[in-house]
Order: sequence, then C-alpha cells, then structure tokens
Amino acid sequence: MLPPARLTPAPLPPGATIGIVGGGQLGRMSAMAAARLGYRAHILTEEADGPAAQVAAGITRGGYEDEAALRAFAAGVDVITFEFENVSAAGLDLLAGLRPVHPSPAILGISQDRIAEKSFLNRHGIATAPWAPVEDRASLDAAIARLGLPAILKTTRLGYDGRGQARVATPEEAHAALARLAPKPLVLEGLVDFACEISVVVARGADGRIASFDPVENRHAHGILDLTFAPARIPEDTAAQATALGRQVAEALDLVGLLAVEMFVDRNGTLRVNEIAPRPHNSGHWTIDACPASQFEMHIRAVAGLPLPIATRHSDAVMKNLIGPADMALWPEILASPGLIPHHYGKAEARPGRKMGHVTRLFPRGSLPGDFGIAGALGCLAPAEGCDRQDERP
Ligand SMILES: Nc1ncnc2c1ncn2[C@@H]1O[C@H](COP(=O)(O)OP(=O)(O)O)[C@@H](O)[C@H]1O
Ligand SMILES: [Mg+2]
Repeated sequence: MLPPARLTPAPLPPGATIGIVGGGQLGRMSAMAAARLGYRAHILTEEADGPAAQVAAGITRGGYEDEAALRAFAAGVDVITFEFENVSAAGLDLLAGLRPVHPSPAILGISQDRIAEKSFLNRHGIATAPWAPVEDRASLDAAIARLGLPAILKTTRLGYDGRGQARVATPEEAHAALARLAPKPLVLEGLVDFACEISVVVARGADGRIASFDPVENRHAHGILDLTFAPARIPEDTAAQATALGRQVAEALDLVGLLAVEMFVDRNGTLRVNEIAPRPHNSGHWTIDACPASQFEMHIRAVAGLPLPIATRHSDAVMKNLIGPADMALWPEILASPGLIPHHYGKAEARPGRKMGHVTRLFPRGSLPGDFGIAGALGCLAPAEGCDRQDERP
C-alpha cells in the first residue's frame, strides 16, 4: 500500500544545480549520476582538484565551517545534499536557512553521534550492540561491569573506516584505550559475535515512497570495507527482515534522500543495527553496474524530487575496494581482465589505507558463487589477507 500523498515540491527541472557538501568519491559518483539526469553538480570542498571537483559543473572552495564559503555555496545551488556528514549543527542550520537541505539537518545530527544514533534506534525498538557512554575512568569501569569484555571503545563522533576505535579484551587495555581516545566523548560497545555483516541501502522520496536495494554482505579487512557480495548470502526471511528494518529506519527519520543501514547478523539470524549513514555508502557501489538505477541516481532523484524507480538488480555482483598502493599496483592488470568493471576515483596519491577506486564483477542473477569461486573470478584481486571471518559462513 502506498503511503498517503503529501504536498511535495515540484521536481527540479533539468539544468538545475544540486549542491553537494563534500568532495570525495561519493560526491564524484553522485555528481556523475546528477549529470546523467541533466543536472549540474556544485561541490563544496576544500580540494580544488579532488574526486568530486574533477567531474562537477562548479565548486565552492572552502571549509565546512567557513560561513562565507557556506553562504557562497548555497547561493549557487537549488538544493543541498551531502556526501560528508560532519558539518556542525551551526553550519547545517545556516545552510537550511538558505536552501532546501536533504537529508534534513536533524538526520545528520543523529548519524553524526553514535550515542544519539543508538538512542534513536533503541527508542524505536531497534536492537543495537549493548552500549554505554564513557567520559572518564569511572564511567568506563561502570560500562565494563555492565557490558563485560571483550568490547569496543569508540569515539562518538568523526570515526570512519575503523578509525577512532579500539577493541579491548582486558580492563588494562580499556584504560589504555581511554587514555588514547580521551578527552573525546566515547561509547563502549559490547562485541557482537556476528556471523556476518550486511547493509541495506534505502532511498525515500519527498512523497514518502521508498526504494530499497537488496541486502548485501560486507567483509572488512583492517577496519576498511574490502568486499561486498550482492545479494547477501543469508536466508530469505533474514533478508526480508533486514529490508523491513531499513525501511523502518528511513521512515522513523522521515528521510528524504538515501540512507545505508549497517547491521550485524548473529548465528540465530537476529539482526542488530551497527550504524546508519544518510548518504551513498561504499557497500552500495555495486549498484552502479548491477542495477538500472544506482544508489547515486536514487540519491539524486530523491533529493531532486523525482520519482524513484524500483531498486531491482539485473545481476548479482561482487565489489572489491581498491585500497592504497598495493591494490593500485594491479590497475593495469585490472584493466586487462575481462569482466572486471573498473572505477577510479581520480585521487593522485595512493596512500596506504586510502580508497582509490573499486572493481565490480557481475554474475547472472541468482548465480553468485561461493567464496572459492569469487576468489577465482576476481583473479588478481583475490580477497585481501586479514579479511575478517573468511571461513565463518552462517
Ligand atoms: N559492537 C561491535 N561488535 C562487533 N564488531 C564491531 C562492533 N562495532 C564495530 N565492529 C566492527 O568494526 C567495523 C567498523 O565499525 P563501525 O562502528 O561501523 O565504524 P566505522 O564508522 O569506522 O565504519 C564494523 O563494520 C565491524 O566489523
Ligand atoms: Mg561502519
């Protein structure tokens, strides 16, 4: 059943300008999707020649907290969205006073802060890892007493790709991690013994209609996403629950835009939400090659007030991230490998741990092979060593 119709603004006409806050690869791929729909993308970025700026119709160069830059940026665009979430509340309010902003500043406020995020989810009856706020030694000890060990101590804000967090197995390790991460506000999370990690990418239009991509399975190496398998190799009812959870989060947030929900699946098939990201997500890159409308197109459509097509995949897919110099050394070989679909983000320097691009391999729908077949299919791109939980399938 469709949700009740709401008064929605007219769709942005072709030729309009979509402002994107942030100049990285997510902005680049969003700008490319915007261009395909006849829009101009205008990027707010500190980097004149970054991944998004290279493909955009225009940029405003400046910091995300620079009031003059924020005003100049807003003046040049019709609507504002993000590929970078960490703009201050003051910056978001300033932008929202000047142009429509999607997703709303309130949603960004929730996703920026792990405690606000988990509180929001739990308030809506959505399970997360058990957690407790940590400010000092006493609250850390209290959190350990309640959650037990091992656990993960995380900064509540500005963490990404596993940065700003520490796994701790003993009170001594926890105290050392506190000394390292303090005085930032922290949260202790109980370690979830998951069978696999999955994510759901959901778009929601201004009219409340939702399009959601199939849940995918994610494998991390060294704290960074390494591989995404689409669809996730989980039982159908678990996949249906994950999709329902993604929709529930989008609705509870009254989202206009696109959102990724990262989840843990435990051995009983129970789902817990790890974190949410109200923007295109690395685990959705496969949709560029395997779906008629990618996550980036869905994002732009939702923000521009266009209808959202069904998010069906025409193929199964495996996406492998290309990280740092080691993976980029394989670029010539990747280009020469039939069946590998290469994506380069235009970053000049391949520093260790830096996301430089990704590669997608498509499989006929319904024929995603098991791990061994994947390794063969990826050829030179066999999964990274240290890939977590390689052998532990649900
Ligand atoms: N509570 C937890 N239990 C088990 N593993 C976790 C937990 N929190 C994080 N992880 C692992 O660390 C990865 C990164 O943590 P996440 O909270 O998603 O931070 P980031 O913002 O860096 O993506 C997760 O994808 C997961 O593999
Ligand atoms: Mg994460």
